[in-house]
Amino acid sequence: MKRSNNAVFFSTLLLEWHETTNERAMPWKGEKDPYKIWLSEIILQQTRVDQGLHYYLKFIKKFPTVYKLAAAGDDIIFKMWEGLGYYSRCKNLIATARHISTALDGRFPTSYEEIAKLKGIGPYTASAIASFAFDLPYAVVDGNVNRVLARYFGIHMAVDSTEGKKEFVALAHSLLDKQNPGVYNQAIMDFGATVCKPRLPLCGDCLLALRCRAYHENTIDILPVKEKKIIRTARWFNYLVLQKEGGFFIRKRPAKDIWENLHEFMLLETPEKMPAAKVLKSPAARAVLPAPYRVVETTDYYKQSLTHQDIHGCFIHLEVDELNLPDDFRLMIKKDLDKLAFPRLLNDYLLSKGWRKK
Ligand code: ADE
Repeated sequence: MKRSNNAVFFSTLLLEWHETTNERAMPWKGEKDPYKIWLSEIILQQTRVDQGLHYYLKFIKKFPTVYKLAAAGDDIIFKMWEGLGYYSRCKNLIATARHISTALDGRFPTSYEEIAKLKGIGPYTASAIASFAFDLPYAVVDGNVNRVLARYFGIHMAVDSTEGKKEFVALAHSLLDKQNPGVYNQAIMDFGATVCKPRLPLCGDCLLALRCRAYHENTIDILPVKEKKIIRTARWFNYLVLQKEGGFFIRKRPAKDIWENLHEFMLLETPEKMPAAKVLKSPAARAVLPAPYRVVETTDYYKQSLTHQDIHGCFIHLEVDELNLPDDFRLMIKKDLDKLAFPRLLNDYLLSKGWRKK
């Protein structure tokens, strides 16, 4: 079957599925305010709808306009973002909100090119905003869309190769319903997320299965093809939980590594798993701890998986009198820990100790 022939069916069937079967109710569906659409799309980058939904509602309630968001302090916004991950999104969100509210007098740009210039907005998000808010004919292309297209059209070219990327973008644009780009984009996003899922897609119930190449050729499990394998690295974080009377020494993580702007205890990273006693004997630990201290508790490693890294973190709780810490550490009392944003791994520890709520 030729691709061009099949293409007509694809768009028609997709829209039919959206109209008749798709029941995903989401508060930003049909929304025309570009600020709210932008906020929802930034939250949904790398995040499932069920996870992002309450963040969206929380943000819209607290910051109903771009001015309100722009005027809020960084720490308040990071705290609200806590748990969503990929914190560079939050940093860019803040920068873009302030740019729009000051340099652009609160007006969201109305062309694709101008939208795509904003910090934190790539082609996918620019297409989503341009089509949802302004009915502009730009097709969204991401992992979900590539998977749907690779399967339906039986394309074995690697989606992440230079050639493949061009091919998939061109195909996605050719399929877009130019009269209803917003509806079409929402349909393909929802279809990829709920029917043509990475694993265990619902082919038995799929309106498009009749003409789906991968379904007929039994290649659902091998499409889409990827050229590059993600290389995962393991990292070993040993946290010194330094307590002085009722307080703990905490700092904000600096730029250039994961978890920028989130908070942490004194970190000693080691190239491999290491018993607490050995960590405490290391020159780095001795430099921090010039005087006798008391070991209250040491934990096993907790684990948090990021896209390319598995972080293993253990906690060595010490009571101390004298310390040699870098200048950015602050002594925080226990009840204030709740006000700060921490990476999930540290939150798991703090929660297990009852040092913060939820
Ligand atoms: N993922 C990214 N944007 C989305 C949207 N508008 N609806 C559902 N999932 C999405």
